[in-house]
Amino acid sequence: MHKSPHAMILGTGRSVPDRVLTNADLERMVDTTDSWIMERTGIRERRIVEPGTPLSDLAAAAARNALENAAVAAEEIDLIILGSVTGDMKFPATACIIQDKIGAKNAVAFDLSAACSGFLYSLQVATAMMGSAGYKRVLVIGAEILTSMVNWQDRDTCVLFGDGAGAVVLGPSIDNRGIIHCCLGSDGSCANLLYNPGCGSINPPTPENAAANLHTINMAGREVFRHAVTAMTNAMQQVLQEAGIAPEQLNLLIPHQANLRIIEAVAKRFDVPAEKVYVNVDRFGNTSSASIPIAIDEARRTGKIASGDLVGLVTFGAGLTWASSVIRF
Ligand code: ACO
Repeated sequence: MHKSPHAMILGTGRSVPDRVLTNADLERMVDTTDSWIMERTGIRERRIVEPGTPLSDLAAAAARNALENAAVAAEEIDLIILGSVTGDMKFPATACIIQDKIGAKNAVAFDLSAACSGFLYSLQVATAMMGSAGYKRVLVIGAEILTSMVNWQDRDTCVLFGDGAGAVVLGPSIDNRGIIHCCLGSDGSCANLLYNPGCGSINPPTPENAAANLHTINMAGREVFRHAVTAMTNAMQQVLQEAGIAPEQLNLLIPHQANLRIIEAVAKRFDVPAEKVYVNVDRFGNTSSASIPIAIDEARRTGKIASGDLVGLVTFGAGLTWASSVIRF
């Protein structure tokens, strides 16, 4: 039995940098090959910003794009949640800077940290605040400049990530359309599998810590891969079961775009055929919290999501965190 949604997506937007970093470019930077990257990850190229680009620029562009698509004015927005781990600065919240850049002067704005699960966590928080605290027009953004924390000498990680931003505008549900259900999960006992140890209270940004590259991404790739498949499969199972939806009812599955092999493993577990699984990891790499909203926007604008379609979303990231959702568009 479907739950009745109280929040729906009114519009979507995205913004990615123009600059393309191909596998051939990476071959010139580290000891890797296009065929290794393609075989192990499915990534052909990724978009990267010019160093020093503010995340708020990328996120504000995606937000403006979503507002235009939703035909909602910035002044109507009463809440902005940004899911990101690569904000402009430690503080203030980048959501506040975005609020100013887009002119959403009536909004409450804050950031949410859940790594690659940041967008779906933010979507759930936004939906809950709309249900319980009366917010009516909400901007949920997933945006990331992961290349600001990539160690470009580390071939284990530097081939995986890209930059980008995606946004959705939420409003009250009509015709039973909207966010039917969300499931979130966390397991801090595996925090050491994927982390950035620098610039926080443990390792403040001293010249020594910067020289030791402590501000870059550390990842136990094989273990993360294993946890990702299990967590995403379980999260999908849970959201479908609790919403009373069978996998074959989904018109489209949008998994977090981290690795084609993870996407295929999850889709196979639910017997979702390839044509119903959205993939753009080949063009963007892993953009963390931006990956799902970028994919949603692309899918809507290319006709892969039509009004009334049931779409499943599932993600996984550092924390560990994971999240899933079912939405009727
Ligand atoms: N080019 C060439 N060889 C490489 C590269 C590279 N870029 N990177 C690693 N290798 C080598 C390794 O050194 C290793 O060599 P060895 O056998 O001589 O020791 C070999 O390739 C195999 O390495 P593995 O790590 O076992 O390769 P695996 O098949 O696991 O693929 C990968 C690595 C792609 C990182 C995979 O584990 C993965 O995708 N993990 C999940 C990563 C992920 O999704 N992280 C983010 C999720 S959460 C979030 O989005 C933030």
